[in-house]
Amino acid sequence: MNKQSISDLSIYYFSGTGNAKSVALWIKKTADNNNINTTIINIADLENRKNIAVPENTVVGICSPTHGFNFPPIVLNFITRFPRSNNNKVFLINTRAGLKMGKYFVPGISGIALLLSAFILLIKGYRVIGMRSIDLPSNWISIHPGIKRPVVESIFERRKSDTINFANKIIAGKRVYRAFIDILQDIIIAPVAIGYYLIGRFVFAKSFIASHDCSHCNICVEKCPVKAIKIVDNRCYWSYKCESCMQCMNNCPERAIETAHGFVIGVSFIIYNVILIWIYKITDFHDITGSFTPGIAFEMIESITNTVIYISLLFLFYRIMHYLLRFRLFERLIVYSSLTKYRFWRRYRAPKAQQKI
Ligand SMILES: Cc1cc2nc3c(=O)[nH]c(=O)nc-3n(C[C@H](O)[C@H](O)[C@H](O)COP(=O)(O)O)c2cc1C
Repeated sequence: MNKQSISDLSIYYFSGTGNAKSVALWIKKTADNNNINTTIINIADLENRKNIAVPENTVVGICSPTHGFNFPPIVLNFITRFPRSNNNKVFLINTRAGLKMGKYFVPGISGIALLLSAFILLIKGYRVIGMRSIDLPSNWISIHPGIKRPVVESIFERRKSDTINFANKIIAGKRVYRAFIDILQDIIIAPVAIGYYLIGRFVFAKSFIASHDCSHCNICVEKCPVKAIKIVDNRCYWSYKCESCMQCMNNCPERAIETAHGFVIGVSFIIYNVILIWIYKITDFHDITGSFTPGIAFEMIESITNTVIYISLLFLFYRIMHYLLRFRLFERLIVYSSLTKYRFWRRYRAPKAQQKI
């Protein structure tokens, strides 16, 4: 047992596929072993995220996956609305996309996840006593197949002991700022984090479909942490609110949810190579903007315009695809042009045993 500096601990976590939840539970278990009065709260379950009370002397822990080199919007909103502090201590953990190549464990990239949230909490009067990334298996199966089970197990084993070490140090009153090791790469990647927040996440949101294998069990609708899945025309429809946390896709009992790669690539190609060129031609856009001296300002106007048109058209095409999915032939075309359809494209979920205390 540690010589401890904490009497009460509140751990807030968000988790799409169980990694961040596992980390939150490992910390709780370590705190329990040290007779610390610990509560653990799923941010997605909080009815009213504005009315949270943080009693004096309670240490706060926040634990979340990294999405697009940042914390996901649900967590950023939660932190932004978190009450001002009575000089409370807080520690922050982001779980990242850990991989294993041969015998080497490869870390993920945090970007501004920890830096931005630490900054917001500092402004609110908190003392940040710990910032640590935990590299658990990547769950981003829209862009790569799910990691094999034995690899998942070995990554978990290693990261569990990292987490317990971190918790023991915090409990013993030490400060742990291990996240600063990556500060240079995190700052370099910051513009991509902003791009993902403003644009990328909407593109991924509009890439999900439910195939005709869907049994209408509605598990995805009920479990979606941000309530982003609606039933439209008796089929699942992903709204803008979707944060691509991968909960739905990895938990569908029929394996009916796919990332429609073919759709996104095909539509992006058409928008950029046909529609945008045509729009510029008929609106004489270049003649209008030609009055600007070519340079950064001109490039910026052009790329912002392109992006706004691209996102608007992607949403429109997504709606049209959703309508057409009722036709078997069209549905098969979309499904078989989705890499996630193929068996080798495994799904990912944190091992169940890690999600119990
Ligand atoms: C949409 C999305 C974006 C992601 N972006 C990053 C990232 O920028 N950096 C990183 O290291 N991992 C990234 N990941 C991987 C997850 O952060 C990582 O697998 C995390 O441990 C998942 O936690 P969870 O199971 O609690 O949701 C991303 C995953 C998803 C689904």
